[in-house]
Amino acid sequence: MAPLNQAETTDQSAPTGQGDEAVICFDQVSKSFGDQQVLRDLSFDVTSGRTLAIMGPSGSGKSVTLRHIIGLMKPDSGRVLIEGQEVAALSSKEIAKLRIRMGYVFQEGALINWLNVGENVALPLRENSDLPDSEISDRVQEKLEMVKVPDAWNKMPAEISGGMKKRIGIARALITEPEIILYDEPNAGLDPEIARAINQIIRELGETLDVTSIVVEHRIECIKAVADEVLFLHEGGALIQTDPASFFASEHPRLKRFFGTDTP
Ligand SMILES: Nc1ncnc2c1ncn2[C@@H]1O[C@H](COP(=O)(O)OP(=O)(O)OP(=O)(O)O)[C@@H](O)[C@H]1O
Ligand SMILES: [Mg+2]
Repeated sequence: MAPLNQAETTDQSAPTGQGDEAVICFDQVSKSFGDQQVLRDLSFDVTSGRTLAIMGPSGSGKSVTLRHIIGLMKPDSGRVLIEGQEVAALSSKEIAKLRIRMGYVFQEGALINWLNVGENVALPLRENSDLPDSEISDRVQEKLEMVKVPDAWNKMPAEISGGMKKRIGIARALITEPEIILYDEPNAGLDPEIARAINQIIRELGETLDVTSIVVEHRIECIKAVADEVLFLHEGGALIQTDPASFFASEHPRLKRFFGTDTP
């Protein structure tokens, strides 16, 4: 049985902890809120062009982990490195620069209610680039088509369904054509057909544009479709980080309990 809080890596091509090519690296990160410790010496890394799926029970710290990567949260101890740069040590200017290169699909959608869909999707470019309006418009339309809502531009967030909001959130995360994309449950609330289309987008971005991604996800079929590796969070640490086939074949009692396969 693998020791808890220590990643068990069976994929030799993906070193855990301090790989030189790591685009995203967590080095013994701990984070507490009051007396609740959420992350406990969490170490893992994601190398260039790979997609890591993070699984774990509700409240295990998956969204907290992603928030550390975009600099919305700082570790109490340990380091989060992006291409070797420690996020917590960056100035606010450097953080802004980093965020242009990163897309974040928020779990809760996080659209701005008083902006229409097109303006919501355009926002990261309006705030962080000096691209001309015509170029921004072209890109917005392209991304809306990518997530299968080509006619949504003029709708207000209050007028669209939850699944559509989710897709608009993905379009907004892709608008700067980022090299790193963090998806927090991108398929939650989507019907299976749209979920497959979103999985396809995630996979294509990884394969053709060499985007490095983390996908927080519960659905096994989604993980099998998009992930190169899976990490399971347990008691604040990485219980296991391995390829999907080994992950789903694991006999680890904690995983069997999670999937409900521990009882006949
Ligand atoms: N800003 C905050 N202040 C206080 N506690 C927080 C804060 N953010 C997260 N937490 C707590 O940290 C724990 C982990 O939260 P997190 O949102 O990362 O869970 P999660 O694994 O994403 O769960 P879910 O699958 O339900 O989305 C929770 O107990 C949550 O209440
Ligand atoms: Mg979450």
